[in-house]
Amino acid sequence: MDQFIGITPKEQEELIRLAQQAYPKAYVPYSHYPVGAATLWASGKIFAGCNVENASFGLTVCAERNSIFQAIAQGETKLKAVAVAVPTEAFPSPCGACRQVLREFAEDCLVILVNGQGETQLTHLKTLLPDSFGPEYL
Ligand code: THU
Repeated sequence: MDQFIGITPKEQEELIRLAQQAYPKAYVPYSHYPVGAATLWASGKIFAGCNVENASFGLTVCAERNSIFQAIAQGETKLKAVAVAVPTEAFPSPCGACRQVLREFAEDCLVILVNGQGETQLTHLKTLLPDSFGPEYL
């Protein structure tokens, strides 16, 4: 498996494992598309989250944002990497809103996509969200 500079193989494995463990907990009565996400922060801590849907569909929170908001609530500030896992054969892809929320806490970071076969694809936030706007503009 490829390795990103700044992330140890152990951290990478743990991120993937925690993202995979998170998706069975997803609340997805409408889409039936469970997603798990795990984020690694500068402290070395990892926070996991799943998507939580709502009968008022627009209130749904994605797995990535769930994980990020839990981390922020615990005092984390700098994002190093995120893993997103789904049970489907197709790889996941963070939605546009989550890409922008990731960007709030990292100019760039490793993004690990994990499908239901446990296969991984590595990419980066800068690839997913080029020429981005962020907090340093304000
Ligand atoms: N979803 C996520 O949680 N993360 C993604 O990366 C893509 C989309 C959720 C939102 C919704 O609950 C379901 O997947 C279908 O869009």
